[in-house]
Amino acid sequence: MCGIVGYVGAKSALEVVLEGLRRLEYRGYDSAGVAVVTAGPDTAHGLIIAKKAGKIANLDKELAARPLPPSTTGIGHTRWATHGPPNDRNAHPHSNNAGRVAVVHNGIIENFALLRAELEARGNELSSDTDTEVVAHLLGELLPEADGDLAEAMRRVCRRLEGAFTLVAVHADAPDVVVGARRNSPLVVGVGEGENFLASDVSAFITHTRDAIELGQDQVVELRREGVTVTNFDGTPAETTPFHVDWDISAAEKGGYDYFMLKEIAEQPKAIADTLLGRFTPEGRLHLDEMRLSDDDLREVDKIIIIACGTSFHVGLIAKYAIEHWTRIPCEVELASEFRYRDPIVDRSTMVIAISQSGETMDTLMALRHAREQKAKVLAICNTNGSTIPRESDAVLYTYAGPEIAVASTKAFLTQIVATYVIALYLAQVRGIKYGDEITAILADLEKTPAAVAKVLESVEPVRQLARELKDAKSVLFIGRHVGYPVALEGALKLKELAYMHAEGFAAGELKHGPIALIEEGLPVFVVVPPKGRDVLHDKMVSNIQEIRARGARTIVLVEEGDHSVDPYADHVIRLPKVPTLLQPLVATVPLQVFSCEMATAKGHDVDQPRNLAKSVTVE
Ligand code: F6R
Repeated sequence: MCGIVGYVGAKSALEVVLEGLRRLEYRGYDSAGVAVVTAGPDTAHGLIIAKKAGKIANLDKELAARPLPPSTTGIGHTRWATHGPPNDRNAHPHSNNAGRVAVVHNGIIENFALLRAELEARGNELSSDTDTEVVAHLLGELLPEADGDLAEAMRRVCRRLEGAFTLVAVHADAPDVVVGARRNSPLVVGVGEGENFLASDVSAFITHTRDAIELGQDQVVELRREGVTVTNFDGTPAETTPFHVDWDISAAEKGGYDYFMLKEIAEQPKAIADTLLGRFTPEGRLHLDEMRLSDDDLREVDKIIIIACGTSFHVGLIAKYAIEHWTRIPCEVELASEFRYRDPIVDRSTMVIAISQSGETMDTLMALRHAREQKAKVLAICNTNGSTIPRESDAVLYTYAGPEIAVASTKAFLTQIVATYVIALYLAQVRGIKYGDEITAILADLEKTPAAVAKVLESVEPVRQLARELKDAKSVLFIGRHVGYPVALEGALKLKELAYMHAEGFAAGELKHGPIALIEEGLPVFVVVPPKGRDVLHDKMVSNIQEIRARGARTIVLVEEGDHSVDPYADHVIRLPKVPTLLQPLVATVPLQVFSCEMATAKGHDVDQPRNLAKSVTVE
């Protein structure tokens, strides 16, 4: 949520910052802006800001019309609006009245109203509706008190702020310095040769360096060409964690696809295989090196609570079936944004599983902190190395989906399901509920899923065609039973966020308790049919299809190959490879992802950057 870049070195700061912003645009695209420091005896302005509402392309036009002078120190921002509408005035960077300081910000400064009133009382004139602008004015005021030391001024400002924030600032009087600060929002340092970078994530600087430093909570970093200094908000030297980025820039590029989402859908077989890789001994036993929880800890668990948001929450709903079935441990699934407000019953024998692709979702982070305060053991499932959620958890299981850039989650969803299954099997193994042969058999099925997903991907052209045909539908419903129910929810969520259409997912058994009233002539309804092996469920679903068809629904039925029992009641059939029931979400979700993607394309929407959304939601 909001992308931030900072650079100091020998290259053109503007070029480095704009390149970084383009890679971070998935984090927000309401406006974009840059500031460069051009201080020097022959330069009229020490600091120049250019910013524009809308996507970075608008800023590019502005810069083409009014080019900036050369500079080697700069910052930039791509915004997801919180305070104030997305117009030029509220775009970042923000400055003080003297125009000597520029600040970009991700997060929310909760006490900004109080700070704003104080600043105005001292004669500052604030010109935007944002919470960010107060920081620019405070920095301007405090810099002289800090003897011109921008990092010290930033520390003083941060001590006055409440809320969640990443801040990056430059000052005209400090031409080779960029300063950043972090509390509860992401910020990483890129360490180069004679140049250094700051960004919301590593993709912004990975073409320049793969050496990075994770910043901890409440830390300020001062970036100069020749080095990086990190301190705590109180000025004491801070401990930091260096890391090396092990993926290649091609992973963060479209690689010939029109959209990141299409590329990421296509990458799913590999993402699943990579997430399973190295988890099992040759004898078929699981080992989770990064688990950081002892077998004794795991044996003590008497309840599991999964917390997550959006698509990751749907993973939790699917995981519940597998966890309870394989481990016999009761499992609850809770929206992270609701968890801490309902006084949940959590203690040291509860295992809380926090699922988050980005590792930065504020709702999930706050729920996790609440769980830890109650002494629960928290295990994170995450796709982003070094992000806040795994760092604050007792244990982590990483998914190896590679960077997910499209705002709508696809490959992360499938790998998160796999990760929860791996955890369930591990718990079953440690607690002696499942033994070698049974685990080996399930693992063998899991290892076949990359091929099954690849097979689905080979046969999705009719799904695309169907999306184009249904482009003008007013509403689309999705129904499923058992693990097919969360798949239905996920199908509906994808369609809402990408095609901006009304879509709902229901448990098929619930239709007759109300939603069946929505069925009318021609209404498209996707039906996820359980594999034939689950006879009772399967047969009940076939009856449900007949009920909606009789009322005029246009039925689009996802069913395993070889099962022709539904053919008489299906307007369209999407055949899925045969897999065990619990693994069906891994194949059944894929055509629904493709459908939404194609529907968005047919409607002329931006597939990778749907309106009003951002990839990483760092506000509550
Ligand atoms: C939908 C989507 C979101 C995220 C949700 C949680 O396609 O991507 O619903 O799943 O915002 O994000 P993470 O997993 O990063 O915590």
